[in-house]
Formats: sequence, C-alpha cells, structure tokens
Amino acid sequence: MTEPRAIDENTITDAALDQMAGTTDPRLKQIMESLVSHLHQFARDVDLTPEEWIKGIEFLTNVGKTCTPVRQEFILMSDTLGMSTLINALHDKRSREIGTKTSLLGPFYRADSPKYELGGTINTREGAPEIAVYGQITDLAGKPIPNASIEIWQTDDEGVYDLQKQDPSIMDTRGQFTADADGKYNLRTVCPLGYMIPMDGPVGDMIRAQKRHGFRPAHIHFLIGAPGYRELVTALYLRDDYVGSDTVFGVTDSLITEVKNDDASSPIPNLPSIGFNFSLGREAEDEMSGRVGADPSQIGQTSH
Ligand code: BEZ
Ligand code: FE
Repeated sequence: MTEPRAIDENTITDAALDQMAGTTDPRLKQIMESLVSHLHQFARDVDLTPEEWIKGIEFLTNVGKTCTPVRQEFILMSDTLGMSTLINALHDKRSREIGTKTSLLGPFYRADSPKYELGGTINTREGAPEIAVYGQITDLAGKPIPNASIEIWQTDDEGVYDLQKQDPSIMDTRGQFTADADGKYNLRTVCPLGYMIPMDGPVGDMIRAQKRHGFRPAHIHFLIGAPGYRELVTALYLRDDYVGSDTVFGVTDSLITEVKNDDASSPIPNLPSIGFNFSLGREAEDEMSGRVGADPSQIGQTSH
C-alpha cells in the first residue's frame, strides 16, 4: 500500500505523476507527464480560481457540442490558438527535405471531392468570374514529378465554403486533379474572398473577447501528393488587408501570390491567372501524416 502524502498546491503534481508512472506506452507516458506538469504549473502561475476552471470546462464542453460531421470547432480552436501552425512547424522540422512551405489544412477539408480533368473548373456557380491557376510540381532540384495528385479547396467568390451552406452535402469549389507527365497542372476556379472564420460558436466568443478581427486573407488550399514524396499541405494567399494578421497564422511570405491580368505564360488565355510552382521534398522512411486536421465527418470515427 502506498503511504498517503500531504497534498498541497505543489505536491499534487508529483502525486498525479506517480499514479501515471505505470503507463506502458512510453510516448503516451511522456506526453501525459508533460501535459499534467504544464497544466498544473499554468494553474499555479495564474492562481486559477474554481470559477475560472469551471468556465474553461464549460468552454470546452461548448466547443465539443458545436462539433458536427460538417463542423470541427476543436480544429478551429487549435487553429486560432496557433497550435495547428506550431504542430505543422514541428512536423516540418522532422522532415528530410522541405519544399514549398506548409500551411494549415483548416476545418474545411473534405475527402472525396469531385475529380476533374486538367483545365476543368471547380466553380459551380453560374456567371461567377473565373480565374486560372497553373504551375508545375517538381522536386527540390526542379525535376518534374509526373502525375502528382492535387486536391484543391477554397471559398466561393462570395467568401463562403460549401460546408457552411444550407445543404452541406453538396460539394462546391473543391476538386481533385492529376498533374501531367511533366508535373504541370492548370485549372479554373473563382477568385476566393477573404472571409471571417465561423464566429457563431464558442471560438467566436473567444475571438471577440480578445478583440481580434476574426478574418483570414483570401486563400486557396492545396494538398499535393506523389509516391516517394512528402505530402504537401499548403495554401496560396492573395495579398489583402489580412495577410499580416491572419486569425489562424497560416500565412508565410513565400505563399503570398497575386492574380495577374496579362500573363503570357498561362495555359488558359483570356482569364486572369495565378501561376505557382510547388516543390515536394522526398519522404522520410518513417514519415507521418502532416495533416493537422481532417475531413470533419471522419473525426471520431476510428474505433478503439
Ligand atoms: C480556412 O482555411 O479557411 C480556415 C482555417 C482555420 C480556421 C478557419 C478557417
Ligand atoms: Fe480556408
């Protein structure tokens, strides 16, 4: 029998860690020991009151209640706290080679989007003005990677994702393409608009309490893969008012681009265009997924 110990605001940490000491999975043990130690230290640092702790529990409860198969409030919380970008950066540090910089997957990714031929459009709104997006997928030395898979998703020209619309089962302004044998791709879409992250839930309450504007700069997401290469989760950002203060910290200088009106290199003439080449790093042997997030309908579906 373990002798009882005098518990106070300092000894409680060792008492909790001692009880977890038998955790057989070494990584789980490391993570939980660090989490509990930091959590306890945080409470001591701010001298957390019972009322404040319950408020935090209430907040997390509401975050959970706001999640549905088409909305992931926990990912939104992770994104707005800078946690998703931090996890991305740590993941990139472990990589063998880094090509194009990564950016957030965000809460609006969906698996199984429609497949299109090169040159096709992901725009489904009649009359919406289109732009072309084109470029090449290469390795770090500039050697073309043939037949890379490209998933792309974005808001429509009014700044709304399909998942936020009345019938979220309809896929809109997203799709999958396969680059050609020279790694080249081109497609048509609409110009995305900068928009406000979903503000009608607990994360929105937090953002307002912190006097943040809640906007993201206009952007287009890309998920690019090819056998033997590290999957690239990234986004292109259009230079607008919010590139310097993205609410979810996704913008990196090298991912800022612009829509050009007279681009002679564009394979789709007569449309304004964004030209952007992506480079993929080689995959490490034990490479793990770099997706900080998932299709919201798939979160919580794995069995235990
Ligand atoms: C987005 O990419 O649209 C997004 C990312 C994080 C939070 C909210 C939105
Ligand atoms: Fe987005």
